[in-house]
Amino acid sequence: MRVLITGGAGYIGTHTMLEVLGAGHEVCVIDNFCNSVPEALERVKALSNRSFAFHKADMRDREALTHHLQDFKPDAVIHFAGLKAVGESVEMPLEYYENNVQGTINLLQAMKAADCTSIVFSSSATVYGNPDFLPITEDHPLRSTNPYGRSKLHIEEMLRDLATANPDFTAAILRYFNPVGAHESGRTGEDPNGIPNNLMPMIAQVAVGRREQVRVFGNDYDTPDGTGVRDYIHVVDLAKAHVAALDWTQSHQGARAFNLGVGQGVSVMEMIDAFAKASGRDIPFRNDPRREGDIAQCYADPSRAEAELGWKAAIDLTGMCETCWRWQSENPLGYNAKP
Ligand code: NAD
Ligand code: UFG
Repeated sequence: MRVLITGGAGYIGTHTMLEVLGAGHEVCVIDNFCNSVPEALERVKALSNRSFAFHKADMRDREALTHHLQDFKPDAVIHFAGLKAVGESVEMPLEYYENNVQGTINLLQAMKAADCTSIVFSSSATVYGNPDFLPITEDHPLRSTNPYGRSKLHIEEMLRDLATANPDFTAAILRYFNPVGAHESGRTGEDPNGIPNNLMPMIAQVAVGRREQVRVFGNDYDTPDGTGVRDYIHVVDLAKAHVAALDWTQSHQGARAFNLGVGQGVSVMEMIDAFAKASGRDIPFRNDPRREGDIAQCYADPSRAEAELGWKAAIDLTGMCETCWRWQSENPLGYNAKP
């Protein structure tokens, strides 16, 4: 299959490229490197031993997208490109709507011009807001509490509208829970700019000595140990789900959402303990107040993805911590530390 991947140089994109190339598909990547570096794609090339097309282009540039899609003629698109920091989205909502929503409109118009009717879209568990029940099924009410989440909801709704308007259109809407971990080679992983917002890269940077301590945001939640509970999923498991979703788009019509999670809740303190064991390092931490906008617990019912995509997460918490530690300890400054 010919697969166009937007945002392929990013964290989930690089790991998905490795799986998609490994499955034998032809790949063309579009990225503007606003949150990634060319070195990430070099490593994908070296690890996969495959070549792929690449165009530096911005999702806000409809003409460029139309040109590249008409040229490559994809059978399907995997759409990662977008901005993803919740706090930043509150500060700069227009940038989020422009990159995420307008960027996706541009992509969907370019797909129409290139006669491509299949898309796999990166949505997020954030579309469930503060959950009414656990584990969260795909039928849980949708809501969002910040511009980032609303941009995901708007895009999901556009995809459902398109599927209603065009019976040939197919969208696999993948709602990721908390992606963590790295490729087993230690050559690709998460490389956030500045101070990490997310727990796992923060723990990894403390373990490697780049930061002093982890701030635990809240130890008075109604959870077994008082700290926040999330459904962490290994990025390689997540990447494999995209290959399954690509196959699904070729034999189905309509827009369908799938939860991608393990289905188990892990607390902040459990994650710190697991990472300390996997790395053999002390992870200093201090208890801080709750972070604004955080919820107590969030974990998936991933049974639809297993029944309909034939996909199930396989890597446990130890594997998530070990691979993240390999990446972090061998690339303490991320991709900037050239081998
Ligand atoms: P990332 O920032 O590492 O990757 C996104 C990539 O898209 C980057 O390479 C960036 O340069 C590129 N990009 C962004 N805006 C662009 C634009 N306007 N034009 C061209 N390229 C652009 O993020 P990620 O963690 O790999 O996430 C990928 C997708 O998954 C995003 O849509 C994100 O919202 C979604 N998601 C991520 C998480 C998570 O925790 N990582 C959770 C749920 C959903
Ligand atoms: N946490 C800390 N200290 C930190 C960072 C996080 O204690 O330095 C805690 C949080 O309070 C939370 C848990 O660790 O309890 C996980 O926090 P993350 O920031 O890693 O992840 P979130 O669940 O808050 O958010 C992630 C993505 C969002 C997405 C959401 C739902 O970052 O973009 O999952 O999919 F919307």
